[in-house]
Amino acid sequence: MTSAQKITFPQFSGLRCLMMPYIQGDAASVPDEYQSYADILRSVFLKKGDIGYLTIDESVVVAGTPHRGARAKASRALHTEVGRLPNKIYCWGSGGGWGNKHNVTLDGSVEVLLANNLDDSCALWNATHHDTSVDGDIGHEAARYPYRDAVMMKAGEVHKIGILTPHESLPVKETTARQFLRIISSGVHGREPYFTINPILAAA
Ligand SMILES: [Fe+2]
Repeated sequence: MTSAQKITFPQFSGLRCLMMPYIQGDAASVPDEYQSYADILRSVFLKKGDIGYLTIDESVVVAGTPHRGARAKASRALHTEVGRLPNKIYCWGSGGGWGNKHNVTLDGSVEVLLANNLDDSCALWNATHHDTSVDGDIGHEAARYPYRDAVMMKAGEVHKIGILTPHESLPVKETTARQFLRIISSGVHGREPYFTINPILAAA
């Protein structure tokens, strides 16, 4: 788990894409509507020239709730990026509810870059949670990850984690326009219906 880089987010515009494939380091590989992130896309990558998967989530978060806690079944939105079944690693295990089919598998070596625009709205733990749940929610194991051991991400910091690194989207203190950036490396196989289609790559 490292943080070497700092970025400045563009002006908030409610921009969103989910797991959109693109070429890491190449801003021309994403459609025009995402060009406000061009500088960030050029400078933030795991491996330049490789396929990557881009998530941008700009939305208003209501005071007292976490931005990205939709999966959480416990009081803390503590999770690993993927869920896991015996012998296989799955992305968001339940398959997005489409007949509980597992559409996506990931290589164990997949890495993740995270950044957001709000101090202390995401906590990371320097650990690997091998026995994660089917959908990655590990809120029931929260006692293993007290906040005193956490790295609290600061605005604009880019942190690299693994797919089994425990992390938590924290409730925000005030209602805030939050910007979230995630880049996932190559090694993702298959797609879920909700992944954003990139017409530039789809045409290639
Ligand atoms: Fe996450």
